Amino acid sequence: MTATLRTSPLLALALALLVTGCDGGFWSGEPEHRERTDNPEILARGEHLYQQYCAACHGEDREGAENWHQPDEDGNWPPPPLDGSAHTWHHPWWQLKDMIRYGGQARGGTMPSFEEQIDEEDAEAIIYWLQSHWPDEVYEAWLDYDRNTPTPADWEEATGREWVTHTD
Ligand code: HEC
Repeated sequence: MTATLRTSPLLALALALLVTGCDGGFWSGEPEHRERTDNPEILARGEHLYQQYCAACHGEDREGAENWHQPDEDGNWPPPPLDGSAHTWHHPWWQLKDMIRYGGQARGGTMPSFEEQIDEEDAEAIIYWLQSHWPDEVYEAWLDYDRNTPTPADWEEATGREWVTHTD
């Protein structure tokens, strides 16, 4: 009995950590340094998910909307290309995951949330697949950017902007 009483607060803490960890959120609390992968299973998973959930807006070949660099008549930004030709490399790993899982609506954008359909590993598979198609120099620029802004706090300091997510 005494033993249970003594261990239970620790257990509660461990459980709480586990729950927050599993919840995923957009920020795991630790910088994740990822490199491109050529693992065929991961890439196939990413491609499949992309075609299922993303191609309708971002294009079958990831080419984005035609006038993606101009807001439409309602002032909304159209879906940008994800093929390495636009500014996707300007988002560190954690930010890409946040964008893919929770969309852009928390920041005034129109991309919907995929929280229910896409889990963290799915989002990672999509990023791996997208990056497997980026030209090497774009990927290298992304790596630098990612290494320089490995946490939301680093990114906010570097850009002077706030990263608002649906969990804020
Ligand atoms: C209904 C259309 C729509 C769908 C579906 C959609 N997006 Fe988007 N996406 C957008 C729009 C529009 C933006 C621009 C930001 C905003 O308005 O939220 C965007 C922005 C992004 C960005 C940021 C790119 C950059 O260069 O800044 C990424 C990454 C992204 N989408 C990935 C995805 C992925 C991966 C999927 C599939 C899971 C997906 N999107 C599904 C419309 C969509």
